[in-house]
Amino acid sequence: MDKTYKRHLITTALPYANGPVHIGHLAGVYVPADIYVRYMRMRKRDVLFIGGSDEHGVPITLRARKEGVSPQDIVDRYHKIIKNAFENFGITFDIYSRTTSKTHFETASEFFKTLYDKGEFIQKTTKQYFDEKENQFLADRYIIGTCPKCGFEEAYGDQCEKCGSSLSPEELINPNSTISGNHPILKETTHWYLPLDKYEDELRQWILEDHKEWKPNVYGQCKSWIDGGLHPRAVSRDLNWGVPVPIEGVDDKVLYVWFDAPIGYISATKELTPEWEKYWKSDDSRLIHFIGKDNIVFHCIVFPSMLKHEGSYILPDNVPANEFLNLEGNKISTSKNWAVWLHEYLEDFPGKQDVLRYVLTANAPETKDNDFTWKDFQARNNNELVAILGNFINRSLVLTHKYFDGKVPAAEKWGEQEEAIIQQVNACKLGIEKNLEQFKFREALKNLMNIARIGNKYLTESEPWKLIKTDESRVKGILNVCLQLSAHLAHLGEAFLPFTMKKLREYLNISEAMWLEEDNFQLLQEGAEINKPGLLFEKIEDKQVQLQLDKLEATKQSNQAEAMETEPVKEACSFDDFMKMDIRVAQIETAEKVAKTKKLLKLTLNIGSEIRTVVSGIAEYYKPEDIIGMQVLYLANLAPKKLRGIDSEGMVLMAKEPDGRLRFVSPIEPVRNGSGVS
Ligand code: 2FM
Ligand code: ZN
Repeated sequence: MDKTYKRHLITTALPYANGPVHIGHLAGVYVPADIYVRYMRMRKRDVLFIGGSDEHGVPITLRARKEGVSPQDIVDRYHKIIKNAFENFGITFDIYSRTTSKTHFETASEFFKTLYDKGEFIQKTTKQYFDEKENQFLADRYIIGTCPKCGFEEAYGDQCEKCGSSLSPEELINPNSTISGNHPILKETTHWYLPLDKYEDELRQWILEDHKEWKPNVYGQCKSWIDGGLHPRAVSRDLNWGVPVPIEGVDDKVLYVWFDAPIGYISATKELTPEWEKYWKSDDSRLIHFIGKDNIVFHCIVFPSMLKHEGSYILPDNVPANEFLNLEGNKISTSKNWAVWLHEYLEDFPGKQDVLRYVLTANAPETKDNDFTWKDFQARNNNELVAILGNFINRSLVLTHKYFDGKVPAAEKWGEQEEAIIQQVNACKLGIEKNLEQFKFREALKNLMNIARIGNKYLTESEPWKLIKTDESRVKGILNVCLQLSAHLAHLGEAFLPFTMKKLREYLNISEAMWLEEDNFQLLQEGAEINKPGLLFEKIEDKQVQLQLDKLEATKQSNQAEAMETEPVKEACSFDDFMKMDIRVAQIETAEKVAKTKKLLKLTLNIGSEIRTVVSGIAEYYKPEDIIGMQVLYLANLAPKKLRGIDSEGMVLMAKEPDGRLRFVSPIEPVRNGSGVS
C-alpha cells in the first residue's frame, strides 16, 4: 500500500444462503479478512467490515423446489444459521446483511438502470436451452452432456471438469437437463450483456500494468482471462427469483445473481452508515475484496467493469483471493456433505474457536490448494498451541505467582541475552506487520508463534526454578522478560486468536489490545499485579478426532450408497440379445486361493452337465472354506480367458455393494444344478 488512505472498506464474498458455511469458506475468506480487520482496528484505521448472504441464484430455487418450500424459506433458514455461526466464531463484521433486503433491491435496480440509461449494455436475442418439462430456461450448470473436446459424458454447460475446456451449452453433444433429465430444446430469449470485450484494453492497463502487486494466483488468473479474449456477459436471466430487471415491459426476468451479489457490498454499507458514499466514492478510500479463487473473474474483471462504467465508484485496490482447502484429501462439497460445517464445529468443540482459527491460518491455502485433516488439527493444537504458546504463558505466570506473589518483578540483571531477545521480538513484530500488510497471514502467524518459541527457549535455558535458590535477583530479571513477552503476545496475537488473547489480557490485567507502534519492550510495570492463570488451551484427545473421522466416514458411505442408487439404467437391449446369454445355477464344489494374488479364487462349479473352472476376483470378500456347496448364478457362455495361467470358463455373477464389496447372488430355494435363468 504505497498511497495513504483515509478509509478502508473490507468486503468478504457473500456466501450463498443455500447451505451453512464450512471450513473452506473460513480458510479462504473469513478468517484472513477478520484477522486483517482486527489488525486495522488496532492500528486505529478507519475501517468497515462488510459481509452478508447471497440470497439469489438458481441453486436456491432448486433447493426450495426439492424441499417443497419457497426460496424465501430457504434463505431465511440459512441466513440465520450462517450469521449466528460467524458471530459465535468471532468474525467481527460491522454489518452482515442479505441480498433480499429492500435497500439491496433498490441499490441493484438503480445500478442496472444507470448502466442501461448510459447505453452500456448490449441487448441480444439468442437461443438458449429450455426445459419444457420444468418450464424454465437452464443455467449453464444445469445442462450436462458429452464434451466435444474429450468425450467426457458429464461435462457441464460452461466447463468440462475432465479436460478443463471452457464450453458453451450449445457445444455439448447430447445435452440433458440435470433438473428433469430431459433433452432441452433451444428457445429464443432476450438479455442484456456487459460488453467486456470493449473493456479489454482498460482492464489490461488497470490490472496487468497498474496492479502488478496483486497475489500471483490472482494476477495470473486475470492475465489468462484477458489474454484469452473477453466476451460480452449476460447480466439478466429468465427466472422469477431475484431482483427484477428494471426495464418497462420486462416482467419475467431478473438480474443475474453475479450482477446483483457484489452490489450487495454497496447495499450493506448503505444500511450500515449514512456516510456510505464517503467509503465508496472517495479516492482516498481503499476497497479490498477477500474472496476464494472461484470468484476471481467476478471481482477482478466483471464487478470493476460495472463500477467503472457506472462512473461514480472507486475500484478495488486489492483482491487477495485464496486457493481452495480440501478435506481429508477430497474436494469440499456442500452437495455431497463433504465438509466440516462451522455451526457443527462450534457445537462439537465449544470454546475452541481459536483452535480452528489457528489451524486454518497456519495451513491457509494462500498460494496453492491445501488439505485439512483432523490429525493435523489435533497435532497443531497439541504440539503448537498447547506445547508452545500455552506452555510458555503458563510457566511464566505460574512462576511469577510462586516466587513473587503474582507481581511483576524488577528487570534486574539484564545482559546480552536479554538484548538479543528484545531485538528478536522486534523483528517478529515487524514480521507480523509486514506480512499482514501483504496479506501473508501464515507468515504473520509464524512470527507470532516465534515470540512464544523464543520465550520457551529462554526459560528452558535459564532455568529460573534452579536459580531461585542462589540468585533471586536474576530470577526477577528472567520472569520480567517472560511477562513482557506474554504481554507482547496478548497484544500482537489479538487479531489471530481473539478469544485466547482476551483471557490472557485478563490474566495480565491489560485492558485493551493495541498495536505496538514503538519499540517499547517493557509493557508491564514493575509491581503490577498478575492474576492466577487458567489453561489457555487443552489437549485434543484421539477419541474427539475419531468422532469427526467417523462422521466423515458415514458421509462417504451414504454418498456411495446414493451414487449406487442413482446409477442410471443402461441402454435398452433386445430380448434376443438377452437370450444370447446362458445364465445358469451352479454349485461351488471346490475353492482355493490363486497363488501370489490377493484378489483371486479358483472355483470349480457343478453345472449339471459338467464341471467348470472359473477364476473369480472375490478373495477379499469370501474365504474358500465358507463358500463350498453354495449355489450361485453363472454365465456359462462367456468366452473363456486365461487368468494367471488358469483357463477361466464363464463368469460367476455378483452383486456390487455401495462400498464396492461383491456378494454372491443365489437362488432363494435349492434348485437343480444347471437350471437355466431367464
Ligand atoms: O461463490 C459464492 O459463494 C458467491 N455467492 C459469492 C458472491 S461474492 C459477491 F459477489 F457477493
Ligand atoms: Zn472435456
